[in-house]
Amino acid sequence: MKALVTANLSSEALSRLEDEHGFDVDYAPIAERDTRLPEDEFIDRLQGVEILIVGYEGVSERVLDATEDLQIIACARGGPDANVDIQAATEHGIPVLYAPGRNAISVADFTWGMILSVGRQIAHAHHLLHTGTYTGDPVSDAASGGEREDVTWGVAQDSPYANLKGPELRDKTLGIIGMGAIGQEVATRAQGFGVDLLGYDPYVDTEGMADHTVEKADLETLLEESDFVTVHCPVTESTRGLLGSDEFAAMKESAFFINTARGAIIDQDALVESLQNGGIRGAALDVYDKEPLPEDHPLLKLDNTVTTPHLAGAAEEVVDHHSQMILDDIEALFNGSQPVHIADDAVLEDFSFTRKH
Ligand code: NAI
Repeated sequence: MKALVTANLSSEALSRLEDEHGFDVDYAPIAERDTRLPEDEFIDRLQGVEILIVGYEGVSERVLDATEDLQIIACARGGPDANVDIQAATEHGIPVLYAPGRNAISVADFTWGMILSVGRQIAHAHHLLHTGTYTGDPVSDAASGGEREDVTWGVAQDSPYANLKGPELRDKTLGIIGMGAIGQEVATRAQGFGVDLLGYDPYVDTEGMADHTVEKADLETLLEESDFVTVHCPVTESTRGLLGSDEFAAMKESAFFINTARGAIIDQDALVESLQNGGIRGAALDVYDKEPLPEDHPLLKLDNTVTTPHLAGAAEEVVDHHSQMILDDIEALFNGSQPVHIADDAVLEDFSFTRKH
């Protein structure tokens, strides 16, 4: 029995496939390649394969037509429709497993890092220090009255203490747009900071708002009342450009905006304008309308902006999470039981895994 794995997979999951289930695994993880496998090579390597664990290769109708033995597709991503033609797979009788929320913890942790970093100017202060501001000889010993040699900033003058202030989080309001896997995880981390939560998600009812810790709001109210606004919805027809100049204008001038979801959800030019003109106080962004950002992009010149290169979902444990979810569901299919994460379970009506080789 053969399996092709083009996603990154944990050694534990590989061993379950090879040692426990007797698969001959062709392991070609994306981490060891620069690019996706070219389609023809992908098709060649799929010959005789019964299980495909795919990362980014396109599983199109053409690919499916060119395979005879394939019985299970598992996509190591939160949304399999980005690269797997689910309808074609269903028509071929092949279940598509996937790993929703695999990096929800990763992105939620990172989002709080962004909130603190932009609010308290941590990244900006780091940048200033690394580029020679606030280094060198003491400016004054006003802070210490001359009694301490280790602290010699002038607190009332041109010091970081005076220049790099930001708000405490307690009693501030965080507005969460999109209360799915990541939005819920962001909400559960708020309690320790004493932050009030508003949530906007047309598809989640009040009960679904992180066990009632989040007050359901419409978008307008959320934007007007939040001190921090963070985005966690997918790009769809209704969310593309969801936040533009009107929405940034609706936010408080003292508010911060965080986007670790996708650049296409906002009008990036409108955000830049708002940041440049004091429409809002700051932004922390992990995603952009075009990635990577061009070297001379205005976002990279703003002091009130924290920018990271699309890594909110990159925690070390994410591979373990998707590996375990996928292997558990593959084993469910072996046993004839219902997998937890399956794109279209209608396919199961006529499905049973058969060991052919
Ligand atoms: P999810 O599917 O669990 O949750 C998305 C939520 O957005 C759902 O509750 C849905 O009802 C809601 N939603 C849909 N349309 C909406 C609208 N018009 N307004 C408000 N809410 C709406 O997805 P998950 O796992 O929470 O991920 C969210 C997004 O985060 C992903 O779509 C992805 O783009 C992004 N992401 C970014 C990563 C990074 O590295 N920066 C890593 C992982 C995900």
